[in-house]
Amino acid sequence: MRRACYRQIRAIWIPEVKVSPTCLALATLCQLLCGGVRAEAPQPASRAEVFAHAQQAGALGLALFSDPSLSASGQQSCTSCHRPDRAFGPLDAAPVQFGGIDLHQRGFRAVPSLMYLQATPQFTEHYFESEDEADESIDNGPTGGLTWDGRVDHGRDQARIPLLSPFEMANPSPAAVVDHVRHGPLGATMRAVFGDAIFNDDDRAFAAILEALETAEQNNQLFYPYSSKYDDFLAGRAQLTAQEARGLAAFNDPARGNCAHCHTSARGRDGSPPQFTDYGFIALGVPRNPAIPANENPKFHDLGLCGPERKDFTDHPAYCGLFKTPSLRNVALRQVFFHNGMFHSLKQAVAFYARRDTNPAEWYPSDSHGEVQKFDDLPAAFQANVNQEPPFGGKPGAAPSLSEADIDDIVAFLATLTDRPFAR
Ligand code: HEC
Ligand code: HEC
Repeated sequence: MRRACYRQIRAIWIPEVKVSPTCLALATLCQLLCGGVRAEAPQPASRAEVFAHAQQAGALGLALFSDPSLSASGQQSCTSCHRPDRAFGPLDAAPVQFGGIDLHQRGFRAVPSLMYLQATPQFTEHYFESEDEADESIDNGPTGGLTWDGRVDHGRDQARIPLLSPFEMANPSPAAVVDHVRHGPLGATMRAVFGDAIFNDDDRAFAAILEALETAEQNNQLFYPYSSKYDDFLAGRAQLTAQEARGLAAFNDPARGNCAHCHTSARGRDGSPPQFTDYGFIALGVPRNPAIPANENPKFHDLGLCGPERKDFTDHPAYCGLFKTPSLRNVALRQVFFHNGMFHSLKQAVAFYARRDTNPAEWYPSDSHGEVQKFDDLPAAFQANVNQEPPFGGKPGAAPSLSEADIDDIVAFLATLTDRPFAR
């Protein structure tokens, strides 16, 4: 039994091995069993005990993460949308995933990867620090937070959202979630980790579930292993191919890709590895996605920072259309790109940057007079918020800032950001 357990555990702790959701669930359960979790309420006192408690909570969190009994349908877990074998992003090319009590409901945002969120700063409207800029008196504007609009700061607050959202795991209340766990396969483990009395108080039990999920997301082997070819390259352990090196140069060049301006590619001043995001909020003017059910209503607009999910900036027109810059680590594993999953290949996503302004008809529909409806997912009043810096800009018909070859090179470079367990 023990040996089988350890084999399972190795499968998740050793990054080289691909992880299936079933294996993840099994391995975490096994780890709890093998680890001989204490049956008594832990009262962490020493550092060692605090550490042990965090480890147990994290292992429980990983098991909860892949437990479908947490959803109202009984069929959906966090891993249904955040697939461990896809860098905790979506499995397929659907712009939005199904969920809800009958698994027939759909939200309006693409599923982000859950990797490399650990350094995300708490949301702030005025951000003065910068990884790559020495001048800390510059206000970088809204920055940080989790989800596409930065509306929560901590994994525990974030986890409430899918558990209670009618188009995700669809539980009617925190008490309903607690009830699923109490009677589900992880009830005994919950008691072992958080104490026998944990289920006596629904609020405490729900907080414990959220804590476990948050702790799970801090597992560095799974969520921020820094095991990509590019990390090896920065450490002097690998060489980029000629094409990848050209791609990196175009990515960094302020006059061409200018990608690194937002998707930081160099080590931080303290030597920390690049996260490929500065956590800033930008409007890119991504085309409206007709495949999203909510968009059947022409009056519906997902405006990111200014709503509808986020409620505190609904009267800030300058924030409408702005979304958080995602990390590009493991982006090559995705089949949906941008907040509304509008594009389905990395090449298309990069080409959009290059030719949004020089070839608008390639991206946006035309009206009955043949006029291109640029920025068609934003009401006219907010279109001035759209970013115009390189690689954007250029009159229709002008030469794009990135050639076809540059685009291919950048795509090749982006593939070096795939962590080892997923690299083909
Ligand atoms: C039905 C699909 C679905 C399920 C199930 C789901 N999520 Fe998500 N998740 C999403 C989507 C879509 C977003 C982006 C939401 C937004 O921006 O408003 C997201 C965002 C997140 C984020 C923020 C990522 C970032 O880039 O800031 C975290 C963390 C997260 N989910 C964790 C979880 C956890 C934990 C669970 C299980 C309790 C879970 N998710 C279940 C679809 C899902
Ligand atoms: C001015 C800041 C900025 C610059 C410059 C920039 N990006 Fe982005 N990038 C963003 C933001 C913001 C998003 C999310 C926007 C959205 O979904 O509406 C994004 C999203 C992406 C995505 C989709 C990722 C996903 O998970 O869906 C890719 C791919 C990408 N950028 C690549 C690039 C490349 C390649 C370049 C250079 C050619 C570049 N970006 C330049 C801010 C920037």
